Amino acid sequence: MNVPGRAALELRAVRKVYPGNVCALDGVDIELVPGEIHALCGENGAGKTTLVEIAAGELRPTSGSVHAIGNVGLVHQHFELIGRLHVWENVVLGFEPRRGVRLDAEAARARVRALSQSYGLELDPDALVEDLPVGIAQRVELVRELARDPAVLIFDEPTAVLAPAEIASFFATVRALAARGAAVLIVTHKLGEIVAYAERATVLRAGKVVARFGKGQIELDAIARAMVGGEIPALAERVVTALGMGLVARDLEAGQGAHALRSASFEVRRGEILAIAGVEGNGQSVLADAIAGVVPSVGSLELEGTPLQGGARERIARGVRTIPGDRQREGLIVSWSLVENAVLGDQDRPPVRKGIAIDRVAAGRRAREIVERFDVRTTSIRTTVATLSGGNQQKLVVGRALAGAPRLLLAYQPTRGIDVGAAALVQSSLIAARNAGAAVLLISFELDEILALADRIAVIYRGMLSATMLRDAFDRGTIGALMAGAQRAS
Ligand SMILES: Nc1ncnc2c1ncn2[C@@H]1O[C@H](COP(=O)(O)OP(=O)(O)O)[C@@H](O)[C@H]1O
Ligand SMILES: [Mg+2]
Repeated sequence: MNVPGRAALELRAVRKVYPGNVCALDGVDIELVPGEIHALCGENGAGKTTLVEIAAGELRPTSGSVHAIGNVGLVHQHFELIGRLHVWENVVLGFEPRRGVRLDAEAARARVRALSQSYGLELDPDALVEDLPVGIAQRVELVRELARDPAVLIFDEPTAVLAPAEIASFFATVRALAARGAAVLIVTHKLGEIVAYAERATVLRAGKVVARFGKGQIELDAIARAMVGGEIPALAERVVTALGMGLVARDLEAGQGAHALRSASFEVRRGEILAIAGVEGNGQSVLADAIAGVVPSVGSLELEGTPLQGGARERIARGVRTIPGDRQREGLIVSWSLVENAVLGDQDRPPVRKGIAIDRVAAGRRAREIVERFDVRTTSIRTTVATLSGGNQQKLVVGRALAGAPRLLLAYQPTRGIDVGAAALVQSSLIAARNAGAAVLLISFELDEILALADRIAVIYRGMLSATMLRDAFDRGTIGALMAGAQRAS
């Protein structure tokens, strides 16, 4: 495997210690070969993002060496685009073609057009980045990197934000890039993707390489075991529950335009998980926001027989807890500490509220409980949430939602972008909440997750809900067809 002189990128004995003495990488060797797709996998906090930032020259290693034969392009996990600027401006940012002292906009637009044509990546140079769906924003970052004609292209968790159809087109692009001779490194925790697309795989755990898989050796179970350093935790057992009156929605409508919720009637009983299956963009986020009280809705909503009204605060007070889909935008304030985030939303009520102030002792206790019960890996509860990896941030969000013994748990894409181990823990907590008598509404774009967790399933398509199906009658083919807009049986 280590043929000298062939590598497009070579990292030797790379070590990275962050301030606060966090050793993120400890003696890592990796090399990338032109024309190959290499997967880098590992649990959250394993050091993957640190490794790729060092490889791309964005971060300096504490020790060790990095050699590349050309430019290294990195498409970030959280895009680093500027929303207020147009596509063409983002692509040339920092490398602006100039005519005299002025920016040559026409040349920049032409460059974007030429690149997107050459790689078959459709892009409108004059679109505003903030108006673009995530799949297209990712394409902009890719084209931005391609403009540097890189010998190595690295993607950090590229498919975490993509819908199934976008994932297929993403991998078609990646294959074409490799076929043109690029060395490609994809950071992913999705094992199916590794098996389907990667030719080699390297597994990181706690900053060290714990397994390497060469051509023809890639095997799903072995990768999963190497990632977690043992067996994957089994899902919590579902117990027989006494069903009680939970959430009842009648003719619920909210939002406008293509992503609106048109007329939803359903019931989520206490002691069950009702899952809403569907492809992203069919009204799911409006449905979740309407129940959480974040957007106005018409129709009726009742929780345990009493109308569910008011804004988010009133609903939280009624025991409605949300695990939001975008933890960085809706769930957490990342510049705040773990403690502050652990009580966010609860700051108005005992035990967190005492008199007119926040009870610091109670807040600290709440944070420590969440950290222990949900295995949130952090050096301290006083550090900012920004220093946590994505999976650990999500465990904090889930822990916070469950800390107050919710009556209705609203889980919107609760395992988006997190790894197998963390996902199993989050999924088990949904089952545990159900077992404990909460009404659980799961909205997910991942059919496997829905089939594993739901007691009943309804499919949403263009803002309309199908009839619900019982667990015994689940059928992947039928659900998939409904997700794609097949006529529903009446
Ligand atoms: N800027 C930082 N300061 C301190 N610690 C950090 C920083 N960035 C990451 N870490 C820590 O380094 C470790 C590896 O993080 P990261 O490379 O993001 O992992 P991954 O991408 O595999 O989830 C984690 O323990 C994380 O908390
Ligand atoms: Mg990462």
